[in-house]
Amino acid sequence: MANNIRHQLSDRVFHWSMAILTVILLGTAFLPILGVKFNWVPIHWVAGVLLIISVIFHLYRSFFVHGLSEMLPRVKDFYSPFGKSSSEEEKYDLGQKMYHWSIALIMLTLLITGGYMLAKIDTPFWNRDPSILTDWTWGIVYVLHGVASFLLIFFFILHIYFSFLPEHRELLRSMVYGKRDLNN
Ligand code: HEM
Ligand code: HEM
Repeated sequence: MANNIRHQLSDRVFHWSMAILTVILLGTAFLPILGVKFNWVPIHWVAGVLLIISVIFHLYRSFFVHGLSEMLPRVKDFYSPFGKSSSEEEKYDLGQKMYHWSIALIMLTLLITGGYMLAKIDTPFWNRDPSILTDWTWGIVYVLHGVASFLLIFFFILHIYFSFLPEHRELLRSMVYGKRDLNN
């Protein structure tokens, strides 16, 4: 891998497929609540299953190709949490690491609870069987899915805001082309 490549092609493909699936999932979840009525369930569950597959791919990359070290918080990150000096030799600053682990927790909550909720629908692959959990446990599953989806909106807006700041243009470029500086 060339040194000036910040995000390899397969990681960029993961990031953008995950981003598109997230927008589809948020749209199909919240548009009907806002009054735009359509048959949202099939689109929502198929996008959710594709997101589960893409996150499994990311976990494989993280554990077996990259290793976790770039994403682990370090004591020196706290000296300059969102500033340049800690990120000069570190790939991600503390803000990005905190963002990543928050998103990881939120997404895993959504994907695991959503995975259980698949038992509530008929699909070409399996039939509805809500009896796998008690009513009480279903309540917990639904509350976790709902709370996590609201947190996801908050973190999503935060991430878009930081990604489009002019001083982060190089990072945005690196998530599209792989490199921070296209002439280098
Ligand atoms: C416990 C679960 C997770 C672990 C252990 C994990 C681990 C990591 C690690 C170690 C990196 C840094 C790779 C590097 O640059 O060396 C990374 C990057 C990233 N993670 Fe995760 N992650 C997890 C869950 C998630 C989830 C659920 C999402 C979003 C749905 C996500 C999205 C990303 C993105 C977009 C990147 C930057 C892409 C890149 O590697 O260049 N992660 N993750
Ligand atoms: C239009 C939508 C989006 C844009 C423009 C965008 C932009 C970016 C950019 C530029 C980076 C690389 C930052 C770096 O190199 O240090 C990045 C990383 C990352 N993105 Fe996104 N993203 C979008 C959607 C999403 C969504 C929907 C999620 C998850 C819900 C997500 C999760 C992540 C994570 C976990 C990382 C790695 C941590 C970090 O670098 O901050 N992104 N994104």
